[in-house]
Amino acid sequence: MTDAIWDALKGLAKPSLTELFDGDSQRLDKLSTRFELGEEETLGEIRFDWSKTHLDDAHIAAFEELAGAMDFAGRRAALFAGEIVNPTEGRAAEHTAQRGVGKEESVQLALDYHHKTAAIVEAILRGAMGEVKHLIHVGIGGSALGPALAVDALAEEGSLVDVHVVSNIDGVALERALRACDPQTTMLAIASKTFTTIETMTNAESVMNWFRENEVADPYGRVVALTASPEKAVEWGVDETRILPFSESVGGRYSLWSSIGFPVAMALGWPDFAEFLAGAAAMDEHFRDTDGADNLPLRAAFADQYYTRLRGCQTRAVFAYDQRLALLPDYLQQLEMESNGKSVKADGTPVEGPTAPITWGGVGTDAQHAVFQLLHQGTNLVPVDFIACIAPGDDLAEDHHRILLSNCFAQGAALMAGKASEDAARAYPGDRPSATILLDDLTPATFGALVAFHEHRTFANAVLMGINPFDQFGVELGKAIAKQIEKGGTTFDPSTEALLQAAGIA
Ligand code: F6P
Repeated sequence: MTDAIWDALKGLAKPSLTELFDGDSQRLDKLSTRFELGEEETLGEIRFDWSKTHLDDAHIAAFEELAGAMDFAGRRAALFAGEIVNPTEGRAAEHTAQRGVGKEESVQLALDYHHKTAAIVEAILRGAMGEVKHLIHVGIGGSALGPALAVDALAEEGSLVDVHVVSNIDGVALERALRACDPQTTMLAIASKTFTTIETMTNAESVMNWFRENEVADPYGRVVALTASPEKAVEWGVDETRILPFSESVGGRYSLWSSIGFPVAMALGWPDFAEFLAGAAAMDEHFRDTDGADNLPLRAAFADQYYTRLRGCQTRAVFAYDQRLALLPDYLQQLEMESNGKSVKADGTPVEGPTAPITWGGVGTDAQHAVFQLLHQGTNLVPVDFIACIAPGDDLAEDHHRILLSNCFAQGAALMAGKASEDAARAYPGDRPSATILLDDLTPATFGALVAFHEHRTFANAVLMGINPFDQFGVELGKAIAKQIEKGGTTFDPSTEALLQAAGIA
């Protein structure tokens, strides 16, 4: 059934972008949507423009048929109902419940956990732990990328505390953070779903040693744990009153909305964190209630599938024309590549065709002066997402923001139109796709909707490919071998042995 749909998709005419615009006067209206957040009171607006991609009516109709054949509506209903959508680990994936959208009991539980987090955040900000100027948040992967991105994006106008997110086991990372903090006014947040991750636990121990070396009176009194394994945090020594739990059914790379978002709430205050959740909830409701290509994350997934499967694109690029979103490509790398970088379907059978492309990107306009040459004239076709905000994030002369946005829109136009030239070195082939996501302003709510959009886009892609996006067994083998090396007694291949010897580890 799906083979026939893919065959039909492969057989469809593939007009150029210019031909698509010339052939359909309604194209912009069909593929550019203003998404308003909030019903009674507006929380902002985001424009999603997919008109400079090669999606046309025929492709959309075929992709809608594919979504039907893959039971997109059923899979989506299962996600929101809190059913087991991660069969290899026997778990639900209830990140939307954190935002108030999902199974009633899970929404209630998330709310209870949020009340505890809000109470602790407010108490600490009022001085319950003494003076807290700095917060060192140790975590890795999903326990770090989201908090780092959100703090960087939203705390521009002054953070209530100075947040340092430390993830890497390389001591250089922690030393840099420690140098910037005063031990007497620093608190430690240990963020780990499992509370066993070697990098995080090692970094946490080193912060505790730093407290002790600097004669901080009650080092354990400075610690908060953010985890789905509270019993392990207790064993480690964290006081139960300062353990902020979240549910096992919230995946690591989907956990920013849970207590893992603690440093964001500390930086912004709880009301802004609540607005961030509300923005994501608006996207959840849209995704849950909208059918076909009007569903924005599903429409984006149609384009993603078009480029990977029909045009052989091995990468997709994301350029934030906003310095505050500089960490977004890093965040999306984990979200998309850890979720959909798989070779087998949820039932264990091989996936036909390529799965997740490599997500990469950077910040505009910097990237224009570094990698855009390849986008315009290279031999790889790279679908690009541009993300920008209409309202500036700075108070400097308005030239800065005007030039920033002009450049962003110019790049999309240039990629599409190209330019003929007698001189081959100066010719631009054009017909290169891009999508643009334009926020009216970068607020906690629009940012929440933007991140939730990408979560749902990732899920929609997974459904279209038959993949389980919620496990990540591919990360385990390397971890196990690192443990064997630590333990000693195992002989590895000659190259690895030589490297171990050279580093004095063997
Ligand atoms: O190694 C991958 C991973 O399991 C990610 O999926 C996760 O976000 C990260 O490690 C951190 O895990 P934890 O929150 O349990 O420390």
